[in-house]
Amino acid sequence: MKYGYFDDNALEYVITTPKTPLPWINYLGNKEFFSLISNTCGGYTFYKDAKLLRLTRYRYNNVPYDNNGKYFYIKDNTDSVVWNPGWQPVKTTLDSYECRHGLGYSTFTSTKNNVEAKVLTFVPMDDNCEVSQITITNNKDKEADLSLFSYVEWCLWNADDDMKNFQRNLSTGEVEITDGGSTIYHKTEYRERRNHYAIYSVNAPVDGFDTSRDAFLGAYNGPDSPDVVSDGKCTNSVASGWSPIASQQINLKLKAGESKTFIFVLAYVENPEDDKWEAPNVINKKPAISLLSRYKTEEAVEKALTELKNYWKDLLSNYHISSKNEKVDRMVNIWNQYQCMVTFNMSRSASYYESGIGRGMGFRDSCQDLLGFVHLIPDRARQRIIDIASTQFQDGSAYHQYQPLTKKGNSDIGSGFNDDPLWLIAGTSAYVRETGDLSILKEMVPFDNDMSVAKTLMGHLKCSFDFTATHKGPHGLPLIGRADWNDCLNLNCFSEHPGESFQTFGPSEGPVAESVFIAGMFVKYGEEYAQLCELLGDQAEADRARDEIKKVYEAAITAGWDGEWFVRAYDAYSHKVGSKECEEGQIYIEPQGFCVLAGIGVKEGLAEKALKSVEERLDTKYGVMILQPAYTKYHVELGEVSSYPPGYKENAGIFCHNNPWVSIAETVLGHGDRAFEIYKKTCPAYIEDISDVHCTEPYVYSQMVAGRDAKFFGQGKNSWLTGTAAWTFVNISQYILGVYPTHKGLSIDPCVPADFGDFEITRKYRNAVYNISVKQNGAQKGIKKLIVNGKEVAGNVIPYEDGVKEYNVVAEMG
Ligand code: GLC
Ligand code: GLC
Repeated sequence: MKYGYFDDNALEYVITTPKTPLPWINYLGNKEFFSLISNTCGGYTFYKDAKLLRLTRYRYNNVPYDNNGKYFYIKDNTDSVVWNPGWQPVKTTLDSYECRHGLGYSTFTSTKNNVEAKVLTFVPMDDNCEVSQITITNNKDKEADLSLFSYVEWCLWNADDDMKNFQRNLSTGEVEITDGGSTIYHKTEYRERRNHYAIYSVNAPVDGFDTSRDAFLGAYNGPDSPDVVSDGKCTNSVASGWSPIASQQINLKLKAGESKTFIFVLAYVENPEDDKWEAPNVINKKPAISLLSRYKTEEAVEKALTELKNYWKDLLSNYHISSKNEKVDRMVNIWNQYQCMVTFNMSRSASYYESGIGRGMGFRDSCQDLLGFVHLIPDRARQRIIDIASTQFQDGSAYHQYQPLTKKGNSDIGSGFNDDPLWLIAGTSAYVRETGDLSILKEMVPFDNDMSVAKTLMGHLKCSFDFTATHKGPHGLPLIGRADWNDCLNLNCFSEHPGESFQTFGPSEGPVAESVFIAGMFVKYGEEYAQLCELLGDQAEADRARDEIKKVYEAAITAGWDGEWFVRAYDAYSHKVGSKECEEGQIYIEPQGFCVLAGIGVKEGLAEKALKSVEERLDTKYGVMILQPAYTKYHVELGEVSSYPPGYKENAGIFCHNNPWVSIAETVLGHGDRAFEIYKKTCPAYIEDISDVHCTEPYVYSQMVAGRDAKFFGQGKNSWLTGTAAWTFVNISQYILGVYPTHKGLSIDPCVPADFGDFEITRKYRNAVYNISVKQNGAQKGIKKLIVNGKEVAGNVIPYEDGVKEYNVVAEMG
């Protein structure tokens, strides 16, 4: 069952009922000012950091789940009917409802009793604000007597403290009000250590305002039944402590057929430290006034929206496909790339399932997010690489997370996740292959933010490489530390009591537990490191690296091989994890996908076997499960992985992130049919029809889909912020469709199902445009002829030549 449809021409998903199985959200903002907005107008806003600079309050764990957004209430004063354009929070049955989530904007069009409200919400390209334009139209045949009320609840900036420290917070709230209430300033803590405030303003005179939540709602009500709206009259309250809000009232009499439009702006403003005040305890409002002046008219809003839309059109044109497969085109051209931008911006910080106060930017997460983003805005990826590398330690290990505002490593979680260092090589290599910019490798980058011990980025990559090379266990496989990619495989923690972290408890530096997955990474990214060495002319280092890789490769195909598939790991007692010898958890997906995509066991015939085993033991109609059989009891020597009920999360869920690894692995073996089958199973556009089972948004990936052992098999959870976005984009764009950036130029080597058909791709790469036409000839893999600008080229790579602006490419498969 569906709850909407794709409108590909408009680049939108159209939701036709507010009662979706879960809130279906969108992200507004591309740079530093962000909002989450659901299909019922729930959500919240922050500047740069969802924990430290939260503008509006949101209650996770609330009932109903999706509540406390930025709401408009429309009241018909003749019959007292009150409704919201997004249905919540009043939940008056609407006569019609439509929500369109577009790229960086959302619209809501609803009607009740012949009154129509159309709300457009977006964050403009170059201002730290969210613009909400509401147009109310009277479609009755007589005059309508209406009141419009706005409502936002301020968060007292630090979202973590805001929901805990009530003894203080209930006394700190402060506001200022100007223009009779049209503009409300939230200035809590501005008098002390802050130099920033927030504004909520409307471009029209108002008939009243409120800034005290209790005055607006009434002490016993929620946002579903505010006293002020029932009474039809704001109280002009001035908040002092308790919970400050911003609400404006506009009364409007509309003639039959008449429309009126209002523009509301929610903004963040910073003042220089020495220019904070215009009078004692009166904030300097100059920058606010100037920002607001840019969004006073419908023309200005229209212009800002057009800029945003053009920005996206331009970005998406960096990779565009036209094929016979509408759903592939839709995901590749629109939604998958969009989600890559969102994950790049957010890492795992703020979604409807990540509270914004827990994790900041993840080292491994952000490095992987970059893989799907780097072709969009390489310069931002470049900066991100430097930021991430700056949180690395001198021995190559790294803080597992850092805070986006301070860019400092998070010492609560610390380091010891032994896959982290290698992801830095992955991200850097992707950037250099995309741009050809070798200068990044020579940038001086601090360790743990300490410039006095800086090395070049290439020096950092050497530390990454050497960390793995020098941290090996009894079988010559890399030591796992606290965990590798699978955060829940905690082989050195032995967490026995509630409250002990699974990941950071116990002797994390265990000298025995080893990871076959990291071995796969070392072979893959070690080779990418060697190639970077060669680019810089250091053949000796490249040779040394390849010698080290050989050792780990050997260990992977001997100690890492179980007979029919790759072992997952060795635990702290040197027992196998993910082996036929185990009672539960006999086979894990990660080493099968990653070892094969790294090329391990291909010539020995092990790769074929490993993928066959995946197909036989892990595959389901909704995707490939992470392990089987599920753990039915808690294994203290394995940790969190066995803590989940069977079928959920890392315990035999379909963890979408590593499905593309298996699909890529299939392309390495030339199995186009199978690679694409795996791609389709978790692909949002292909499972839109089962939205009632899947539950999460049909336009983006979720972290997890419940596995076969779970009660709710097929149900998605934790949508949006997942490495799945980047990895599926890498899979479909670089491996299945086969346009892969190498250091020498784009390589064209698709691996598609036999019935895929011909297709055309436009790819912007370095300073040129590539128009690539692939003639499939029914082949799953293999290029028999490559013609570039009229001339046949040997091999698969289109040699990149400086100065050539356009490459017309015909690739014949067969
Ligand atoms: C989550 C984490 C990611 C980890 C994965 C598997 O998605 O963000 O870092 O690799 O879970 O445990
Ligand atoms: C929990 C989650 C896992 C996530 C980790 C992040 O272990 O189950 O998915 O990666 O937390 O810290």
